[in-house]
Amino acid sequence: MVLRITKQGEPILKKAAQPVDFGALKKDLPRLLRDMWSTMYAAKGVGLAAPQVGLALRLAVIDVKPEGKSERLVLINPEIVSREGAVVQEEGCLSLPGVYVKLKRHSIVRVKAFDERGEPWERTAEGLLARALEHEVDHLDGKLFIDRLDMVRRLKVAALLKDLKKTWT
Ligand code: NI
Repeated sequence: MVLRITKQGEPILKKAAQPVDFGALKKDLPRLLRDMWSTMYAAKGVGLAAPQVGLALRLAVIDVKPEGKSERLVLINPEIVSREGAVVQEEGCLSLPGVYVKLKRHSIVRVKAFDERGEPWERTAEGLLARALEHEVDHLDGKLFIDRLDMVRRLKVAALLKDLKKTWT
């Protein structure tokens, strides 16, 4: 099922999400993940965090399709272990459709998380995947990418948002 994606301005996107309790979520997790994948692909995104479908849980999915092929990552209770380097790239977010800004992030990011079976995994990423990892973990901390802009650029985006918001559903 394709779920509605929450948009900037909705309180859940500002809230720090709660850690996933595997025992409590076990029954609902497969369907929730299926819905999150459907929602992300339908919106043509490369990542989606649970608060974007209205759930304040530390859970996100990412598929940046390296070399055009799907590579699905399920991140449950993710933690960024280390980050280094810097790179400026254009970035967007399904919760702010139509907004794209150049944003500096780390170029190499190491993350550890659990997969859908509760198995721990850890990997080092660069490029778009490193950016997506930081972006999605930010969502779980109640942070949007525009929160990382300096004041002047944030004001510019705010002006743009006024008109854009009328087109959001
Ligand atoms: Ni986002």
